[in-house]
Amino acid sequence: MKKILLIVVLILLAAAFLLGRNIVSFQSIPMLLNAMTGQGIDSPDAATVETRLQVPNNFGLSVYASDLPNARFITMTTNRDLLITRPHKGDVVMLRADSSNPRQGGERTTLLEGLNKPSGIAVHDGWLFIGETDAIGRIAFDQSTGKTSGDYQRIVEGLTSDGNHPYKQVKIGPDGKLYLSQGSTCNVCEELDPRRSTLSRFNIDGTGEEILATGLRNTMGFDWAPWSNELYATDNGRDLLGDDYPPCELNLIEEGKFYGWPYFNGANEPDPDFGFDVSGQSVTASGLNPIAPAHEFRAHNAPLGITFVNTEAWSEDYKKMALVALHGSWNRSIPDGYRVVSLHWQGDEIISKDFFSGFEKAGDVIGRPVDVTQGPDGAVYISDDYAGSVYRIAYGETQKPIVSKVPVEIKKEFVLVEPDWLTDANRSVLAERGSRLFKQFGCKGCHISKGAPGRMDLSTVNQRLQYTGVIARLTKPRSPMPTFPLTEEDKKALATFLMERAKTQ
Ligand code: HEC
Repeated sequence: MKKILLIVVLILLAAAFLLGRNIVSFQSIPMLLNAMTGQGIDSPDAATVETRLQVPNNFGLSVYASDLPNARFITMTTNRDLLITRPHKGDVVMLRADSSNPRQGGERTTLLEGLNKPSGIAVHDGWLFIGETDAIGRIAFDQSTGKTSGDYQRIVEGLTSDGNHPYKQVKIGPDGKLYLSQGSTCNVCEELDPRRSTLSRFNIDGTGEEILATGLRNTMGFDWAPWSNELYATDNGRDLLGDDYPPCELNLIEEGKFYGWPYFNGANEPDPDFGFDVSGQSVTASGLNPIAPAHEFRAHNAPLGITFVNTEAWSEDYKKMALVALHGSWNRSIPDGYRVVSLHWQGDEIISKDFFSGFEKAGDVIGRPVDVTQGPDGAVYISDDYAGSVYRIAYGETQKPIVSKVPVEIKKEFVLVEPDWLTDANRSVLAERGSRLFKQFGCKGCHISKGAPGRMDLSTVNQRLQYTGVIARLTKPRSPMPTFPLTEEDKKALATFLMERAKTQ
């Protein structure tokens, strides 16, 4: 697998060389591999944290958790338990609060697994919502106990996940609606699926889809300003137009508006590839009326998560403020980004300042911020998918930085939940049918028996997957397991057979 990835990277480099463009610098190779596999580097040690990472005066930093490869988007419960999506692992990890030490995370458990590259995560009104690449799912979730119950249900299905930006972000708006952003399939192109490169909105149960805003190339973060309820969204500008162009964007989202991609960059400058019609006229002539960004980030900074922070307990310098995680460039000759900035709404202006920096120094990268969330303790928590870490930054706590104890094992807190369609009346019929299908399709050829390594041993599948998880694996098997022509009823039958068999082993 690693070999294939290396070949892909080498082809990219060759293409970059042939085109004479700065697509990637050599420092970017480990980051490209990380983007493709989710494998990164170790969390920084205590000395590195102290000498490299910087927060403003009057804030204290700790490495809240390390040894959490591929930690992407995060949210925190009212109980201060941190929930983390890990797209390449297909899981959602919960990091419990440690009541004896607020500066470090406690016990870890896997809340959900077997998901399709989960990214977006939100908790609202007794539910945990997850943005998978092809669906939005939810499961009943009690914030006070940190426990899920019942089945994981995909309430929006059939989202397309091809191309460059398959990840989906989800959040719940102040209007109680479910918001979804879907990135583009490409760097610049006209999309076939009208839902790509948009922000859309649903009722909380996944019904009533409406597209809210279009022309958004890859919006991985959005949040509402608490003083106005205005919706702001980050967006990553296109590649292959040089080191310093076009800017990445913060957009103020308004219903029905178009935000430029792929025809315009930055403040509505026509794109060299898509901004002109055949006669050389700017495409504005054809009636497109793009909205310019509310704020521009430097090119290739890759703004991802944004969170408006409640700063009532902080000093006057931090009023009307959001934090934005800049993941950092992978295709710029001199790396840039790699920090968390604070944006300050001052009059008509949005001013950017460094909030958490030092991840990149002379090309040496020790982390890449992805998302920011604020806990009920007022501290902010920042995920880093490259060093597999979570950082905590707290106002007024100015002790020396500390690093997390490593490594910490992730425990499984697994309760198998029976689905609604399974009853005592149909259980044995389904199990028998499943047993026949298992033989008919030669499942045993690969899933030999008890004691087979890892996921090949289906006698313990009930400790890893829910019924829905088994059905998901049969619907979309992971290579090298082939896809079988199974009906929904066949899948239920196979799941029942495997679960019943596992119980008796
Ligand atoms: C060609 C070999 C092969 C065949 C045939 C095969 N599988 Fe698999 N199966 C695999 C591999 C490899 C995995 C692990 C993939 C992964 O990493 O998730 C797997 C994973 C699974 C899982 C997920 C297990 C877990 O714990 O995540 C289930 C369930 C499963 N297979 C069921 C079946 C059933 C039912 C059949 C027959 C209809 C079948 N498989 C046929 C190779 C096979």
